[in-house]
Amino acid sequence: MKHETQGQDGAESARRLSRRSLLKLAGGGAGLLALAGSGAITWRAVDNGVFAEGSGPAYEPWNLPVPTGRADLVRAAILAANAHNTQPWIFRVAESYIDLFADPTRTIGTIDPLLREQQLSLGCALENLLIAAPALGLHAAAELAPDPNDRGHIAHIELREASREASALYDAIPLRHTDRAAYRTDRAVPRETLDRYRRAAEDHGVSLVWLSDPEARHAFSDATVRATEAIIADPDQAADDYRWYRADWQEIQTLRDGVTIDASGQPALIRGAAKILPTTQQQNHDGWLRGTRDTQVSTAAAFGALVVADGNDLADRVSAGRAYQRLHLRAIGDGLAMQPLCQVLERADREESTGIGEDFSRELAGLFPGQGRAIMTFRIGYPTVAAPPSPRRAVEKVLI
Ligand SMILES: Cc1cc2nc3c(=O)[nH]c(=O)nc-3n(C[C@H](O)[C@H](O)[C@H](O)COP(=O)(O)O)c2cc1C
Repeated sequence: MKHETQGQDGAESARRLSRRSLLKLAGGGAGLLALAGSGAITWRAVDNGVFAEGSGPAYEPWNLPVPTGRADLVRAAILAANAHNTQPWIFRVAESYIDLFADPTRTIGTIDPLLREQQLSLGCALENLLIAAPALGLHAAAELAPDPNDRGHIAHIELREASREASALYDAIPLRHTDRAAYRTDRAVPRETLDRYRRAAEDHGVSLVWLSDPEARHAFSDATVRATEAIIADPDQAADDYRWYRADWQEIQTLRDGVTIDASGQPALIRGAAKILPTTQQQNHDGWLRGTRDTQVSTAAAFGALVVADGNDLADRVSAGRAYQRLHLRAIGDGLAMQPLCQVLERADREESTGIGEDFSRELAGLFPGQGRAIMTFRIGYPTVAAPPSPRRAVEKVLI
Protein backbone atom coordinates (compact mmCIF):
# COMPACT_ATOMS: atom_id res chain seq x y z
CA MET A 1 0.00 0.00 0.00
CA LYS A 2 1.29 3.46 -0.88
CA HIS A 3 1.87 6.09 1.74
CA GLU A 4 2.17 9.74 0.86
CA THR A 5 5.41 11.60 1.64
CA GLN A 6 5.10 14.63 3.90
CA GLY A 7 7.73 17.32 3.53
CA GLN A 8 7.18 18.95 6.93
CA ASP A 9 9.96 18.72 9.54
CA GLY A 10 7.56 17.89 12.35
CA ALA A 11 5.93 15.11 10.38
CA GLU A 12 9.37 13.72 9.60
CA SER A 13 10.32 13.57 13.28
CA ALA A 14 6.95 12.06 14.07
CA ARG A 15 7.64 9.31 11.56
CA ARG A 16 10.90 8.54 13.38
CA LEU A 17 8.93 7.51 16.43
CA SER A 18 8.37 3.82 16.07
CA ARG A 19 4.72 2.90 15.71
CA ARG A 20 5.15 0.54 18.64
CA SER A 21 6.18 3.35 20.97
CA LEU A 22 3.28 5.47 19.77
CA LEU A 23 0.87 2.65 20.38
CA LYS A 24 2.31 2.26 23.88
CA LEU A 25 1.59 5.93 24.47
CA ALA A 26 -1.83 5.60 22.91
CA GLY A 27 -2.51 2.64 25.16
CA GLY A 28 -2.00 4.99 28.09
CA GLY A 29 -4.90 7.10 26.81
CA ALA A 30 -3.43 10.51 27.66
CA GLY A 31 -0.44 9.77 25.47
CA LEU A 32 -2.02 10.36 22.11
CA LEU A 33 -3.75 13.47 23.36
CA ALA A 34 -0.39 14.80 24.51
CA LEU A 35 1.06 14.06 21.10
CA ALA A 36 -1.90 15.72 19.43
CA GLY A 37 -0.82 18.89 21.24
CA SER A 38 2.26 18.96 19.02
CA GLY A 39 1.41 20.91 15.86
CA ALA A 40 2.97 18.44 13.43
CA ILE A 41 1.03 15.49 14.72
CA THR A 42 -2.21 17.46 14.65
CA TRP A 43 -1.45 18.58 11.11
CA ARG A 44 -0.75 15.05 9.96
CA ALA A 45 -3.80 13.75 11.83
CA VAL A 46 -6.08 16.21 10.05
CA ASP A 47 -4.44 15.51 6.70
CA ASN A 48 -4.94 11.77 7.13
CA GLY A 49 -8.57 12.02 8.14
CA VAL A 50 -8.13 10.99 11.78
CA PHE A 51 -11.04 13.21 12.72
CA ALA A 52 -13.06 12.74 9.53
CA GLU A 53 -14.05 9.10 9.71
CA GLY A 54 -16.56 8.15 7.02
CA SER A 55 -16.67 11.51 5.23
CA GLY A 56 -15.61 12.77 1.80
CA PRO A 57 -16.57 11.71 -1.73
CA ALA A 58 -15.62 8.07 -1.10
CA TYR A 59 -18.54 7.76 1.31
CA GLU A 60 -21.16 9.74 -0.63
CA PRO A 61 -22.72 6.61 -2.22
CA TRP A 62 -24.12 5.75 1.23
CA ASN A 63 -26.62 8.62 0.82
CA LEU A 64 -28.90 6.28 -1.07
CA PRO A 65 -31.66 8.30 -2.79
CA VAL A 66 -35.34 7.39 -3.06
CA PRO A 67 -35.05 5.52 -6.38
CA THR A 68 -36.26 7.39 -9.45
CA GLY A 69 -34.44 5.65 -12.30
CA ARG A 70 -32.74 2.42 -13.37
CA ALA A 71 -29.29 3.64 -12.27
CA ASP A 72 -30.60 3.87 -8.72
CA LEU A 73 -30.89 0.09 -8.70
CA VAL A 74 -27.14 -0.02 -9.30
CA ARG A 75 -26.65 2.62 -6.56
CA ALA A 76 -28.25 0.13 -4.16
CA ALA A 77 -26.29 -2.83 -5.58
CA ILE A 78 -22.85 -1.28 -5.02
CA LEU A 79 -23.50 -0.90 -1.28
CA ALA A 80 -23.45 -4.68 -0.90
CA ALA A 81 -20.95 -6.64 1.17
CA ASN A 82 -18.04 -7.73 -1.03
CA ALA A 83 -14.76 -9.46 -0.33
CA HIS A 84 -11.94 -7.04 0.63
CA ASN A 85 -14.17 -4.25 -0.73
CA THR A 86 -12.84 -5.00 -4.22
CA GLN A 87 -16.24 -4.04 -5.71
CA PRO A 88 -15.81 -6.58 -8.52
CA TRP A 89 -18.88 -5.61 -10.54
CA ILE A 90 -19.89 -4.17 -13.88
CA PHE A 91 -23.50 -3.40 -14.83
CA ARG A 92 -25.13 -2.94 -18.23
CA VAL A 93 -28.37 -1.06 -17.69
CA ALA A 94 -31.17 -0.90 -20.26
CA GLU A 95 -34.84 0.06 -20.01
CA SER A 96 -36.11 -3.53 -19.73
CA TYR A 97 -33.10 -5.39 -18.31
CA ILE A 98 -29.83 -5.20 -16.41
CA ASP A 99 -26.85 -7.48 -16.93
CA LEU A 100 -24.40 -8.07 -14.10
CA PHE A 101 -20.82 -9.05 -14.93
CA ALA A 102 -17.69 -9.79 -12.90
CA ASP A 103 -14.86 -7.30 -13.34
CA PRO A 104 -11.88 -9.61 -14.02
CA THR A 105 -9.42 -6.91 -12.94
CA ARG A 106 -10.80 -6.70 -9.39
CA THR A 107 -9.75 -9.89 -7.61
CA ILE A 108 -7.80 -10.69 -4.44
CA GLY A 109 -5.34 -12.95 -6.28
CA THR A 110 -4.09 -15.85 -4.17
CA ILE A 111 -6.57 -15.06 -1.38
CA ASP A 112 -9.37 -16.02 -3.75
CA PRO A 113 -7.77 -18.25 -6.40
CA LEU A 114 -11.03 -20.02 -7.28
CA LEU A 115 -13.01 -16.73 -7.46
CA ARG A 116 -15.41 -18.10 -4.85
CA GLU A 117 -15.44 -14.84 -2.91
CA GLN A 118 -15.71 -12.72 -6.03
CA GLN A 119 -18.79 -14.63 -7.15
CA LEU A 120 -20.35 -14.53 -3.67
CA SER A 121 -19.78 -10.76 -3.68
CA LEU A 122 -21.61 -10.46 -6.99
CA GLY A 123 -24.49 -12.42 -5.45
CA CYS A 124 -24.59 -9.86 -2.62
CA ALA A 125 -24.81 -7.01 -5.13
CA LEU A 126 -27.52 -8.82 -7.06
CA GLU A 127 -29.61 -9.20 -3.92
CA ASN A 128 -29.46 -5.47 -3.15
CA LEU A 129 -30.49 -4.74 -6.74
CA LEU A 130 -33.45 -7.12 -6.52
CA ILE A 131 -34.51 -5.62 -3.18
CA ALA A 132 -34.34 -2.11 -4.69
CA ALA A 133 -36.49 -2.91 -7.75
CA PRO A 134 -39.91 -2.85 -5.98
CA ALA A 135 -38.94 0.43 -4.28
CA LEU A 136 -38.66 1.86 -7.82
CA GLY A 137 -41.96 0.28 -8.95
CA LEU A 138 -40.36 -2.56 -10.91
CA HIS A 139 -40.66 -6.31 -10.87
CA ALA A 140 -37.24 -7.91 -11.37
CA ALA A 141 -36.62 -11.54 -12.36
CA ALA A 142 -33.03 -12.77 -12.32
CA GLU A 143 -31.55 -15.59 -14.33
CA LEU A 144 -28.30 -16.69 -12.65
CA ALA A 145 -25.26 -17.71 -14.70
CA PRO A 146 -27.18 -17.15 -17.96
CA ASP A 147 -24.30 -18.02 -20.29
CA PRO A 148 -22.73 -21.45 -19.72
CA ASN A 149 -19.72 -20.33 -21.79
CA ASP A 150 -19.10 -17.18 -19.76
CA ARG A 151 -18.62 -17.47 -15.99
CA GLY A 152 -18.12 -13.71 -15.90
CA HIS A 153 -21.76 -13.15 -16.81
CA ILE A 154 -23.32 -13.41 -13.36
CA ALA A 155 -26.97 -12.60 -13.95
CA HIS A 156 -29.46 -11.30 -16.49
CA ILE A 157 -32.26 -9.39 -14.79
CA GLU A 158 -35.52 -8.71 -16.65
CA LEU A 159 -37.42 -5.63 -15.47
CA ARG A 160 -41.10 -4.81 -15.91
CA GLU A 161 -43.41 -2.19 -14.47
CA ALA A 162 -45.15 -3.09 -11.20
CA SER A 163 -46.59 -1.23 -8.25
CA ARG A 164 -44.13 0.69 -6.10
CA GLU A 165 -43.49 -1.08 -2.78
CA ALA A 166 -41.46 0.26 0.11
CA SER A 167 -39.58 -2.35 2.13
CA ALA A 168 -37.70 -2.51 5.40
CA LEU A 169 -34.93 -4.40 3.63
CA TYR A 170 -34.44 -1.56 1.15
CA ASP A 171 -34.27 0.91 4.04
CA ALA A 172 -31.61 -1.25 5.70
CA ILE A 173 -29.26 -1.20 2.65
CA PRO A 174 -27.42 2.03 3.63
CA LEU A 175 -27.37 1.03 7.31
CA ARG A 176 -25.56 -2.30 6.79
CA HIS A 177 -21.83 -2.30 7.49
CA THR A 178 -19.47 -5.15 8.30
CA ASP A 179 -18.78 -4.96 12.04
CA ARG A 180 -15.23 -6.07 13.00
CA ALA A 181 -15.36 -4.74 16.57
CA ALA A 182 -16.18 -6.70 19.74
CA TYR A 183 -19.71 -8.03 20.13
CA ARG A 184 -21.53 -8.21 23.45
CA THR A 185 -20.56 -11.27 25.44
CA ASP A 186 -23.53 -10.94 27.82
CA ARG A 187 -26.21 -11.47 25.20
CA ALA A 188 -26.84 -14.58 23.10
CA VAL A 189 -28.77 -14.46 19.84
CA PRO A 190 -32.17 -16.09 20.51
CA ARG A 191 -32.57 -19.57 19.05
CA GLU A 192 -35.75 -18.54 17.25
CA THR A 193 -33.87 -15.72 15.49
CA LEU A 194 -31.20 -18.16 14.28
CA ASP A 195 -33.93 -20.57 13.15
CA ARG A 196 -35.76 -17.80 11.29
CA TYR A 197 -32.53 -16.88 9.46
CA ARG A 198 -31.91 -20.54 8.63
CA ARG A 199 -35.35 -20.85 7.02
CA ALA A 200 -34.81 -17.59 5.08
CA ALA A 201 -31.57 -18.95 3.57
CA GLU A 202 -33.48 -22.00 2.37
CA ASP A 203 -35.53 -19.66 0.13
CA HIS A 204 -32.30 -19.24 -1.86
CA GLY A 205 -31.66 -22.98 -1.97
CA VAL A 206 -28.80 -22.53 0.51
CA SER A 207 -28.33 -24.27 3.86
CA LEU A 208 -27.42 -22.09 6.81
CA VAL A 209 -25.61 -24.09 9.49
CA TRP A 210 -25.12 -22.48 12.91
CA LEU A 211 -22.16 -23.36 15.10
CA SER A 212 -23.55 -22.27 18.45
CA ASP A 213 -22.55 -24.98 20.94
CA PRO A 214 -19.25 -24.37 22.77
CA GLU A 215 -17.35 -27.26 21.21
CA ALA A 216 -18.18 -26.33 17.61
CA ARG A 217 -17.52 -22.65 18.32
CA HIS A 218 -14.14 -23.48 19.79
CA ALA A 219 -13.19 -25.65 16.82
CA PHE A 220 -14.14 -22.92 14.33
CA SER A 221 -12.40 -20.18 16.35
CA ASP A 222 -9.23 -22.18 16.65
CA ALA A 223 -9.18 -23.06 12.93
CA THR A 224 -9.82 -19.41 12.00
CA VAL A 225 -6.89 -18.17 14.08
CA ARG A 226 -4.56 -20.82 12.62
CA ALA A 227 -5.74 -20.03 9.08
CA THR A 228 -5.03 -16.34 9.71
CA GLU A 229 -1.50 -17.26 10.80
CA ALA A 230 -1.08 -19.44 7.71
CA ILE A 231 -2.18 -16.60 5.39
CA ILE A 232 0.24 -14.20 7.06
CA ALA A 233 3.07 -16.75 6.76
CA ASP A 234 2.36 -17.32 3.05
CA PRO A 235 4.21 -14.51 1.19
CA ASP A 236 1.83 -14.48 -1.78
CA GLN A 237 -1.36 -14.52 0.23
CA ALA A 238 -0.01 -11.98 2.70
CA ALA A 239 0.92 -9.56 -0.11
CA ASP A 240 -2.39 -10.03 -1.94
CA ASP A 241 -4.32 -9.43 1.28
CA TYR A 242 -2.34 -6.31 2.20
CA ARG A 243 -2.79 -4.82 -1.28
CA TRP A 244 -6.43 -4.08 -0.40
CA TYR A 245 -5.79 -2.40 2.98
CA ARG A 246 -6.15 1.38 3.06
CA ALA A 247 -4.94 3.72 5.82
CA ASP A 248 -4.07 6.80 3.81
CA TRP A 249 -6.83 9.41 3.54
CA GLN A 250 -5.92 10.58 0.02
CA GLU A 251 -5.66 7.01 -1.20
CA ILE A 252 -9.11 6.18 0.20
CA GLN A 253 -10.66 9.22 -1.44
CA THR A 254 -8.98 8.45 -4.78
CA LEU A 255 -9.35 4.67 -5.03
CA ARG A 256 -12.58 4.45 -3.00
CA ASP A 257 -12.18 0.72 -2.37
CA GLY A 258 -10.41 -1.69 -0.02
CA VAL A 259 -10.62 -2.32 3.72
CA THR A 260 -9.88 0.86 5.67
CA ILE A 261 -8.25 1.24 9.04
CA ASP A 262 -11.49 2.90 10.21
CA ALA A 263 -13.46 -0.27 9.39
CA SER A 264 -10.86 -2.56 11.00
CA GLY A 265 -12.64 -2.77 14.35
CA GLN A 266 -9.56 -1.56 16.26
CA PRO A 267 -10.06 0.85 19.17
CA ALA A 268 -10.21 4.56 18.21
CA LEU A 269 -6.79 5.42 19.64
CA ILE A 270 -5.08 2.64 17.71
CA ARG A 271 -6.89 3.66 14.50
CA GLY A 272 -5.79 7.25 15.00
CA ALA A 273 -2.20 6.21 15.63
CA ALA A 274 -2.13 3.98 12.56
CA LYS A 275 -3.31 6.88 10.40
CA ILE A 276 -0.66 9.24 11.76
CA LEU A 277 2.29 6.87 11.34
CA PRO A 278 2.48 4.60 8.30
CA THR A 279 2.29 0.90 9.17
CA THR A 280 4.18 -1.93 7.54
CA GLN A 281 2.56 -5.06 6.14
CA GLN A 282 3.82 -7.01 9.15
CA GLN A 283 2.42 -4.51 11.67
CA ASN A 284 -0.88 -4.51 9.84
CA HIS A 285 -1.03 -8.30 9.88
CA ASP A 286 -0.04 -8.47 13.56
CA GLY A 287 -3.06 -6.25 14.26
CA TRP A 288 -5.29 -8.44 12.09
CA LEU A 289 -4.21 -11.60 13.92
CA ARG A 290 -4.68 -9.93 17.32
CA GLY A 291 -8.11 -8.65 16.35
CA THR A 292 -9.18 -12.02 14.99
CA ARG A 293 -8.02 -13.92 18.07
CA ASP A 294 -8.72 -11.49 20.93
CA THR A 295 -11.84 -9.76 19.66
CA GLN A 296 -13.56 -11.31 16.68
CA VAL A 297 -13.73 -15.04 17.43
CA SER A 298 -13.73 -14.54 21.19
CA THR A 299 -16.78 -12.25 21.30
CA ALA A 300 -18.94 -13.89 18.63
CA ALA A 301 -22.35 -15.02 19.89
CA ALA A 302 -22.46 -17.67 17.14
CA PHE A 303 -20.79 -18.60 13.88
CA GLY A 304 -22.72 -19.38 10.74
CA ALA A 305 -21.87 -21.09 7.47
CA LEU A 306 -23.63 -21.02 4.14
CA VAL A 307 -23.48 -24.50 2.68
CA VAL A 308 -24.28 -25.53 -0.89
CA ALA A 309 -24.30 -28.81 -2.78
CA ASP A 310 -21.56 -27.87 -5.24
CA GLY A 311 -18.96 -25.35 -4.07
CA ASN A 312 -17.75 -24.71 -7.63
CA ASP A 313 -21.14 -24.10 -9.23
CA LEU A 314 -21.51 -20.44 -10.24
CA ALA A 315 -25.26 -20.26 -9.59
CA ASP A 316 -24.77 -21.86 -6.13
CA ARG A 317 -22.14 -19.27 -5.25
CA VAL A 318 -24.32 -16.38 -6.45
CA SER A 319 -27.29 -17.78 -4.50
CA ALA A 320 -25.18 -18.02 -1.35
CA GLY A 321 -24.09 -14.41 -1.83
CA ARG A 322 -27.71 -13.38 -2.17
CA ALA A 323 -28.57 -15.28 1.00
CA TYR A 324 -25.70 -13.64 2.93
CA GLN A 325 -26.68 -10.11 1.88
CA ARG A 326 -30.35 -10.61 2.75
CA LEU A 327 -29.40 -12.19 6.06
CA HIS A 328 -27.15 -9.25 6.97
CA LEU A 329 -29.91 -6.76 6.10
CA ARG A 330 -32.37 -8.68 8.26
CA ALA A 331 -29.84 -8.84 11.09
CA ILE A 332 -29.43 -5.04 10.95
CA GLY A 333 -33.20 -4.73 11.37
CA ASP A 334 -32.97 -6.99 14.43
CA GLY A 335 -30.21 -4.88 16.00
CA LEU A 336 -27.52 -7.50 15.28
CA ALA A 337 -23.99 -7.18 13.90
CA MET A 338 -22.26 -9.49 11.42
CA GLN A 339 -18.82 -10.06 9.94
CA PRO A 340 -17.72 -12.66 7.40
CA LEU A 341 -14.73 -14.66 8.70
CA CYS A 342 -13.42 -16.61 5.73
CA GLN A 343 -9.79 -17.38 6.52
CA VAL A 344 -10.29 -21.17 6.73
CA LEU A 345 -12.02 -21.15 3.34
CA GLU A 346 -9.28 -18.94 1.89
CA ARG A 347 -6.64 -21.43 3.02
CA ALA A 348 -8.66 -24.39 1.72
CA ASP A 349 -8.95 -22.68 -1.70
CA ARG A 350 -5.22 -21.96 -1.64
CA GLU A 351 -4.51 -25.64 -0.93
CA GLU A 352 -6.81 -26.74 -3.73
CA SER A 353 -5.31 -24.33 -6.27
CA THR A 354 -1.66 -25.13 -5.50
CA GLY A 355 -1.69 -28.70 -4.18
CA ILE A 356 0.24 -27.60 -1.06
CA GLY A 357 -1.61 -29.98 1.25
CA GLU A 358 -5.09 -30.49 2.59
CA ASP A 359 -4.90 -29.31 6.19
CA PHE A 360 -7.64 -26.70 6.11
CA SER A 361 -9.70 -28.49 3.45
CA ARG A 362 -9.93 -31.47 5.81
CA GLU A 363 -10.62 -29.24 8.77
CA LEU A 364 -13.44 -27.55 6.89
CA ALA A 365 -15.01 -30.88 6.01
CA GLY A 366 -14.73 -31.87 9.70
CA LEU A 367 -16.51 -28.70 10.85
CA PHE A 368 -19.48 -29.38 8.58
CA PRO A 369 -19.57 -33.17 8.21
CA GLY A 370 -21.82 -34.58 5.52
CA GLN A 371 -23.51 -31.24 4.93
CA GLY A 372 -22.31 -30.25 1.45
CA ARG A 373 -19.68 -27.56 0.98
CA ALA A 374 -19.40 -24.51 3.26
CA ILE A 375 -18.60 -21.53 0.99
CA MET A 376 -19.09 -18.59 3.32
CA THR A 377 -18.57 -18.36 7.07
CA PHE A 378 -19.32 -15.47 9.42
CA ARG A 379 -19.94 -14.40 13.00
CA ILE A 380 -22.99 -12.77 14.51
CA GLY A 381 -23.79 -11.04 17.78
CA TYR A 382 -25.05 -7.84 19.39
CA PRO A 383 -22.81 -4.85 18.63
CA THR A 384 -20.89 -2.77 21.17
CA VAL A 385 -20.26 0.16 18.80
CA ALA A 386 -21.73 1.47 15.54
CA ALA A 387 -19.89 -0.07 12.58
CA PRO A 388 -18.47 2.54 10.19
CA PRO A 389 -19.10 2.63 6.41
CA SER A 390 -16.54 1.55 3.82
CA PRO A 391 -15.71 3.59 0.73
CA ARG A 392 -17.45 2.97 -2.57
CA ARG A 393 -16.58 3.95 -6.13
CA ALA A 394 -19.07 6.21 -7.92
CA VAL A 395 -21.83 4.42 -9.81
CA GLU A 396 -20.57 5.92 -13.11
CA LYS A 397 -17.38 3.85 -12.73
CA VAL A 398 -19.23 0.53 -12.82
CA LEU A 399 -21.58 1.05 -15.76
CA ILE A 400 -20.86 -0.05 -19.34
C1 LIG B 1 -17.48 -13.33 0.14
C2 LIG B 1 -17.05 -12.36 1.20
C3 LIG B 1 -16.00 -12.68 2.04
C4 LIG B 1 -15.61 -11.80 3.05
N1 LIG B 1 -14.62 -12.17 3.92
C5 LIG B 1 -14.31 -11.37 4.97
C6 LIG B 1 -13.40 -11.81 5.97
O1 LIG B 1 -12.89 -12.93 5.93
N2 LIG B 1 -13.12 -10.97 7.00
C7 LIG B 1 -13.70 -9.72 7.09
O2 LIG B 1 -13.41 -9.00 8.03
N3 LIG B 1 -14.59 -9.29 6.16
C8 LIG B 1 -14.91 -10.08 5.12
N4 LIG B 1 -15.85 -9.68 4.20
C9 LIG B 1 -16.49 -8.36 4.36
C10 LIG B 1 -15.95 -7.36 3.36
O3 LIG B 1 -14.60 -7.06 3.64
C11 LIG B 1 -16.84 -6.10 3.39
O4 LIG B 1 -18.10 -6.46 2.91
C12 LIG B 1 -16.26 -5.00 2.53
O5 LIG B 1 -15.06 -4.51 3.07
C13 LIG B 1 -17.23 -3.83 2.40
O6 LIG B 1 -17.59 -3.35 3.66
P1 LIG B 1 -19.10 -3.30 4.14
O7 LIG B 1 -19.61 -4.71 4.20
O8 LIG B 1 -19.05 -2.68 5.49
O9 LIG B 1 -19.87 -2.47 3.17
C14 LIG B 1 -16.27 -10.54 3.18
C15 LIG B 1 -17.33 -10.23 2.33
C16 LIG B 1 -17.73 -11.13 1.36
C17 LIG B 1 -18.91 -10.79 0.48
